Amino acid sequence: MAEAKFLSVKEAMQKGSGEVSIRGWVYRERGSNKLRFIVLRDSTGILQCVIEKDKVGEEKFEEAKKLQVETSLTLKGTIKKDERAPSGFEVSVSEFEVIGWSDTFPITKDQSAEFLADNRHLWLRSRKMTSIMKIRSTVFGAIHEYFRNHGFLEFHSPIFQGTQSEGGSTVFEVDYFGKKVYLAQTWQLPAEAGIFALEKIYTIAPSFRAEKSKTSRHLTEYWHAEMEMAWASFKDIQDHGEGLLKHIVKKVLENNVEDLEILKREPGKLKPTLEKPFVRLSYDEALKILKEKAKMEIPWGKDLRTLEEDKLSSLYDMPVIVYNYPKEVKAFYMKENPDNPKTVFGCDFIAPEGYGELIGGSEREPDIEEIKKRLRAQGEDPDEYGFYLDTRKYGSVPHGGFGLGVERVVSWICGLDSIKDSIPFPRTMLRYNP
Ligand code: 4AD
Ligand code: MG
Repeated sequence: MAEAKFLSVKEAMQKGSGEVSIRGWVYRERGSNKLRFIVLRDSTGILQCVIEKDKVGEEKFEEAKKLQVETSLTLKGTIKKDERAPSGFEVSVSEFEVIGWSDTFPITKDQSAEFLADNRHLWLRSRKMTSIMKIRSTVFGAIHEYFRNHGFLEFHSPIFQGTQSEGGSTVFEVDYFGKKVYLAQTWQLPAEAGIFALEKIYTIAPSFRAEKSKTSRHLTEYWHAEMEMAWASFKDIQDHGEGLLKHIVKKVLENNVEDLEILKREPGKLKPTLEKPFVRLSYDEALKILKEKAKMEIPWGKDLRTLEEDKLSSLYDMPVIVYNYPKEVKAFYMKENPDNPKTVFGCDFIAPEGYGELIGGSEREPDIEEIKKRLRAQGEDPDEYGFYLDTRKYGSVPHGGFGLGVERVVSWICGLDSIKDSIPFPRTMLRYNP
């Protein structure tokens, strides 16, 4: 069969009739002494193929009887519509060739989450994971596209960093030739130096958080899409966050309707994000709404906890932007609000349906003394932040940016129970293998 031009399963079904050559893995198999039904899987879908003793001959049929789930093979045959087949088409096989035999595949129906996690490298082949990974790929593509369409240049910062930036409690320390360095929690601080050359920049890179919490929203290693922009107002930052999320959802609805169907995710749940402007609430307004609509009394100055974010998100069908948080609960680099110095120009985008914070962003504090003061208040030594403080010394400009947690977005779009399924090989406090 070496000369055959292979079609994907999807292309073969689009062709719909006549001769086709396809290749893939056995997804399911059953049959009798005369007939074997092989459901073949490739990256594009599944397709039932029938191997008949009378057609392929005694010897080949003996081989067909030994085909196990996940055996890889190539085959040639005639495709036709068949309502009874799992994907509506069936191939009557004239020739097949085994490429790689399979041992008995360990993953069968109704396995525990723990077993699937231990066998993640094999579980990736499932239809569920395949669809999630396709959506994830669309999301990454959409992020690059959005930023490039808006004149942002891709800029890279180091993963090994000399300082923390998002609070010492979630920083990973690494022994760097006898010195202590940290894995990047964010690209932001080097990026704030980068805007003086490139003005509008973005990245998609891994960020690391030593999260001890075993929640359905936290990974220790996640992909972080970040942007930083010179001459930006606080509103520009929020507008780009909204624009980016809308673009991501648009692309998924254009490209992945079949995958959403496999995941049993209703596309209608995502449409309001595309169609309606996001609700924007100040922190004060958010407290008021939580009090009035949910009888939740939050003392002014406290951060919103998961519980409160979930309640707030349940009141809307698109992301909600909460802005002007109390200074105390936010990072040292956020700009003080001149109208109320107890608050900062920081914003969080809270996902609908309880998927938590999708984006965190802010306008950045321009005043070098204020930054030093806040670093000291967090127990940091401003001298270690020399490169960062220089960004405020040589022609500083108003600027800001945000970071989007790609796995949070994928979880929400796919309607997943846990963030762990939004990434091929999740890393959490308890899992670093496979
Ligand atoms: O809100 P965070 O901590 O903001 C920053 O790191 C800023 N320096 C970003 C910036 O302005 N350039 O993180 C940004 C986003 C969160 O909104 C969340 O979506 C995601 O990163 N995130 C996580 N995702 C998965 N697992 C974790 N442990 C995460 N921690 C944050
Ligand atoms: Mg945040």
